[in-house]
Amino acid sequence: MNTRRKRFRIGFLFLPILFMLNGCLAGFEMEEFVPNTMDVPKAYSELSIRGINVGNALDAPEPGQWGVMIDPEYFHVIKQAGFNAVRLPVRFSAHTGGNPSYIIDKDFFAMVNDLINHGLNAGLIVILDLHHFDEVMNEPIDYEEKLLAMWDQISRVYSAYPDNLYYEILNEPSRELTRDRWNDLAARVISVIRKNDTHRKIIVDSVDFSNINTIQTLTLPEKRNLIVTFHYYEPFEFTHQGADWVRGSNQWLGNIWIGTAEEKKQIENELNQAAEWSNRNQIPVLMGEFGTIEKADRASRIRWTEFLAREAEKRQISWVYWQFCSNFSLYSCDTRKWDETLLGALIPKNTSK
Ligand code: GLC
Repeated sequence: MNTRRKRFRIGFLFLPILFMLNGCLAGFEMEEFVPNTMDVPKAYSELSIRGINVGNALDAPEPGQWGVMIDPEYFHVIKQAGFNAVRLPVRFSAHTGGNPSYIIDKDFFAMVNDLINHGLNAGLIVILDLHHFDEVMNEPIDYEEKLLAMWDQISRVYSAYPDNLYYEILNEPSRELTRDRWNDLAARVISVIRKNDTHRKIIVDSVDFSNINTIQTLTLPEKRNLIVTFHYYEPFEFTHQGADWVRGSNQWLGNIWIGTAEEKKQIENELNQAAEWSNRNQIPVLMGEFGTIEKADRASRIRWTEFLAREAEKRQISWVYWQFCSNFSLYSCDTRKWDETLLGALIPKNTSK
C-alpha cells in the first residue's frame, strides 16, 4: 500500500462523545436531479444520493497511515461541489478492547464522532461504514461477536441522531463469510441495531466484495429503512490497473475504456439487474463505491465515470464515488483543488443545485 502513504496532515478536535447533537438537527435539503426519462428499469427508491467516499483515512490501520487525515473543512468543500452525502469508511475493529465487550477506544470514537458531526452540520448525509474488518472475513465464527458488540455500542451512541446519519454494517463481506453465513450475520447485526435504534437507515452490502451479481442472494430480515449496496469497478483490469494491493495488476497498465457498445452493454445489463431486483423487492440500491485509479488513462477515466454516474441515475440508483483525495482521487488535499473535469463528469454543472 505504498502509494497510499503521503504526509500526515491536519489534527482533529478530540471532543467527548456526548458533545454530539449540537447543530446536527439543522434542516437537511436533498438536491433535485434531472428526472430520468429513459426506458430503463427503475430501482425502488426515494433516495437520490450523489456522494463521495472519504477513504484511506479512518480505514487505515491507524488514522493517517495511508496519507489522509480528514480536515473538517472538507465536508463543506464536498457540499459546495454539489454532493449531498459522504461515506466514512472506519476501521473500528482495530480500535477495541478484548472480548467479551470489545469496548471501542474512546479517543478513536471521539475522533470519528467529531467528523460525523462536521459532516452532518455541513448538510450532508453521512454513511458510517464499518470498513476493513478482515478478521471476520477470515474467521467469522471467532469474530461475529465482535461485530455485534461494535454495532451495539455504535447504535446506542447514535440512536438520537438525525435521520441523515446512515449505518453500513460491514464493507465488502467476502471469503469465509459465505452467502448463508453473511445472511445470518447481517440479520443478527440488524436486530442488535434495531434494539437501540428503531428507524435508522441501515445499508447492507452484497456478498463476494459487494458484488452486483450477488444482490439476489441476500435474504433480509426486514425491508423498512434498509438499503442494499454494491460496488462497481468493472472492467476491473481497467479500474485497478497498477493497484499495488491487487497482485498482477501491473500487467493491466495501459488498458483504456473507450465506451464501445459492447463495453456499455455490460454495465447497462448489470445495472438493469440491480434496478429490477430493487424494484421487485422494494428496497433501494446504492452503488456505494465506483471509481478508477489515477494511473489509468485520463480520457478513459472521465468517459467511464460519466457513463456510470448517468446510467445509475437513470435507474434511480444512488451512488457514492470512490474516492475523495487518495489514489482514485477527485480532489487534491495538497493543493485543495478539485479535478474539475472529473468532477464535472460526476456532477454536470447544470444539475448540481
Ligand atoms: C475497497 C477496499 C479499499 C480499496 C477499494 C478500491 O473499498 O476496502 O481498500 O481501496 O475497494 O480497491
